[in-house]
Amino acid sequence: MGRLHVCDHPLIQHKVTYLRDKTTETKQFRELVDEISTLMAYEATRDFPLTTAKVQTPVVEAEGRIIAGRMVGLIPILRAGLGMVDGVLKLLPSARVGHIGLYRDEETLQPVEYYVSLPTDVAERELIVLDPMLATGGSANAAISILKQRGCKPTKLMCLIAAPEGVKAVQEAHPEIDIFVAALDTHLNEHGYIVPGLGDAGDRLYGTK
Ligand code: PRP
Ligand code: URA
Repeated sequence: MGRLHVCDHPLIQHKVTYLRDKTTETKQFRELVDEISTLMAYEATRDFPLTTAKVQTPVVEAEGRIIAGRMVGLIPILRAGLGMVDGVLKLLPSARVGHIGLYRDEETLQPVEYYVSLPTDVAERELIVLDPMLATGGSANAAISILKQRGCKPTKLMCLIAAPEGVKAVQEAHPEIDIFVAALDTHLNEHGYIVPGLGDAGDRLYGTK
C-alpha cells in the first residue's frame, strides 16, 4: 500500500496558511504554490537512490554521492497542476513534463479528459503527478489511469491540500501510489469543495472568476 505523507515542515505549514487566506491575491497565491511545491519536492525525493562517484576537490580525490536510478517525469493535471511545475523543476531541472488536461464536471464531479501530451520516453521515467487539490480523487485517479493505460508506472502523487475522501479513493484505486500532501483537511462540502480548503485552485492561480 502506498503511504500518505503529510509534509508538515514549519515553512510549508506557514505558507499553506497564507495560501488559504481569501485575501491572498493571484500574484502571491502563485508564488506560494511555487514555493510550497519546491519544499514538497524535497520531501518527495527523499527516497531517491544514491550511488557513489569520485570527485576531485582542490585538495584530494574524494568519494561523493550522486542520484542514481530512473529519470523523472512530472505530470501536472491541467489547469491547476501547472502552477506546481516550476517549483518542482527548481530541484529536478532535468525532469521532462507531460500534461494531462482534465476538468471536473460541476454537476457530477466526474473528471472530463480534454488533453493528453506525454514525453516519448515517459514509460521509462519515474512519474510524479502534480495537482494542488485532491478532493473526491476523481481527477487524480483518472490521470493515474491514463498513465497506466500508456504503459507507465506512476509512483507518486503530490498535492497541496487533500480531503480524506480523495486520499481514500486514490489508495483504493491505485494502492501502490505514495501520496504527498501539505495539508490533510477535514471533509468535502456538498459541492465537492475541500473544507477548510482554499477555494478553487485554478481560479485563484489564474485570476479567473
Ligand atoms: C480541480 C483541481 C483538481 C480537481 C480536484 O480542477 O485542480 O484537478 O479539481 O477535484 P477531484 O479530486 O474531485 O477530482 P478543476 O476541475 O477545477 O479544473 P482546473 O484545474 O482547470 O481549474
Ligand atoms: N477543486 C478545487 O480547486 N478546490 C476544491 O476545494 C475542490 C476541487
